[in-house]
Amino acid sequence: MFISGHEFAELNYGVTMATTIYHDSDADLGALKGKKIAVIGYGNQGRAQALCLHDSGLDVVVGARKNGKSWESVQKDGLKVAEIPDAVKGADVVMMLLPDEVQPRIYKEQVAPNLKDGAALEFAHGFAITFDLITPPSTCDVIMMAPKSPGRMVRQTFTEGFGVPALIAVHQDASGNAKKLALALAKASGPPRPACWRPTSARRPRPTCSASRPCCAAA
Ligand SMILES: NC(=O)c1ccc[n+]([C@@H]2O[C@H](COP(=O)([O-])OP(=O)(O)OC[C@H]3O[C@@H](n4cnc5c(N)ncnc54)[C@H](OP(=O)(O)O)[C@@H]3O)[C@@H](O)[C@H]2O)c1
Repeated sequence: MFISGHEFAELNYGVTMATTIYHDSDADLGALKGKKIAVIGYGNQGRAQALCLHDSGLDVVVGARKNGKSWESVQKDGLKVAEIPDAVKGADVVMMLLPDEVQPRIYKEQVAPNLKDGAALEFAHGFAITFDLITPPSTCDVIMMAPKSPGRMVRQTFTEGFGVPALIAVHQDASGNAKKLALALAKASGPPRPACWRPTSARRPRPTCSASRPCCAAA
């Protein structure tokens, strides 16, 4: 399961918790080569991550609504844009980078009906999965790659040749390659250059909503 950064801190300070730290050499972009990546949402995280993935040589299409602000921004930035259902169709990796509060509805109405069998679903926050607001099919990998920073810093540090740290997590490993995918997404956005953490714990924590913008960890 995913837990919030708040509990991560609690566990960190109150409970013994094993943590695996990964660096750039642990991640292989090959896990994403030849795969179509749909980045759903082009806001704070969506724009930064989509641009970094594109600059890392990956096949990125942004899913946005035609009447929204993001559509034009994507076009100005020179990336491919499509309406959300069309972006999801045929995508091997679907990155849910919409505001947490709208993710469940957009997932139900526009993502789930178009999700390819065996596609990976990725989040930058554990909210929707932790609270069972989204229940992906058992055939999907479900992963998280949560940069510990606003998108602006993700992009800036990437263009400077470095990155911000991130937390990665695997909620569901249908393919047997879910961790490799999470690490590859992190590498393509910069985080493993400083470090990626994957906390592990046998204890099932009780998540709360109290952290305002928590990044996430997984048990
Ligand atoms: N912000 C951070 O610093 C940060 C850090 C780590 C993790 N995260 C996580 O990253 C994820 C994305 O957060 P964010 O802050 O990047 O979100 P955000 O900036 O608020 O997302 C805005 C994007 O969502 C689209 N959108 C909003 N409502 C929509 C709707 N009803 N239908 C279709 N598109 C809609 C917007 O499209 P329009 O332009 O058309 O309105 C825009 O492209 C969340 O899970 C968040 O917890 C955020």
